[in-house]
Amino acid sequence: MLRNVTGLVLAVYIATHLFNHALGVISIDAQDGLLEVLAPVWQSVPGTVVLYGSLIVHALLGLYALWVRKTLRMPTWELAQLVFGLAVPLLLIPHVFGTRVAQALLETNPTYHTVVASIWASPMAMVRQPLLVVIVWIHLLIGLHYWLRLRSRYRHALRVFYPVAVVVPLLALLGFWGAGIELRELAAVGEETVTQGYGPSATASPLSREDEARARARLASRERKAYEIYAGLLASRKAAGNPEMNPFGVAENRRNLEVAIDCVYRQRMIPRRFTVEDLFN
Ligand code: HEM
Repeated sequence: MLRNVTGLVLAVYIATHLFNHALGVISIDAQDGLLEVLAPVWQSVPGTVVLYGSLIVHALLGLYALWVRKTLRMPTWELAQLVFGLAVPLLLIPHVFGTRVAQALLETNPTYHTVVASIWASPMAMVRQPLLVVIVWIHLLIGLHYWLRLRSRYRHALRVFYPVAVVVPLLALLGFWGAGIELRELAAVGEETVTQGYGPSATASPLSREDEARARARLASRERKAYEIYAGLLASRKAAGNPEMNPFGVAENRRNLEVAIDCVYRQRMIPRRFTVEDLFN
């Protein structure tokens, strides 16, 4: 239940965020125009608690569900959702530290002008950011689909959902591309400076040089810490009380088979000393 509610909050955030990117098809000013409406909502105290609370709770519940599984055997769709879900924090951490956390520590103001410019200035970010869009969107679609699939109203609405599911990320990526091209053209006529380096270095900080250097060091160390915490969570399966999870379910199946063989032996249907290996020889 909590996983669905937090997932829904994140779905709303992601859908509006991607719609905001899509406005880049019109212009980068259109993107920043909508951002001026959305940012105060998500950056207010309740908005921040709801957004980041949902992000953390959703991720922790997902990890917990993974740790208490007896086996990693699962249908392909579930595996895809799991792998994409696990990849999201790896790709999202630099983005959040480059926008929201940088804003708090460096007193910068991340806008489409600064964030898109900084992504375009970094080949790594140019791969990471579109990948994040695709991975997050697929993870979201799989989650929504398997939650709603048995509801008849959803099945009727699929005709509308299918095109929306394809068009939203496509338009978002096109908008991101369009905004980058526009910034390049503005830079060519001297109206925009394309900043170097992804993230915090992309936006000018009003702090003094020394304070800015200190804040950047703090930002870098907190980003490292975030990765360490995530790595620690990934490694903390034992804490969930299921240290014997078998990745492919072999041991459990083997135990079941041995019990079955024992039963069959007791019925005198197979010779004594029949083992699991005999089944496969
Ligand atoms: C090309 C892709 C993307 C671009 C150009 C982009 C752009 C931006 C910009 C301009 C901001 C700062 C303004 C704001 O607070 O909204 C931002 C913040 C943020 N973005 Fe993105 N974004 C992209 C993809 C994504 C994706 C796929 C996610 C997935 C969840 C995401 C999550 C966030 C989050 C959590 C914040 C911080 C919001 C806050 O704390 O208020 N972004 N992004």
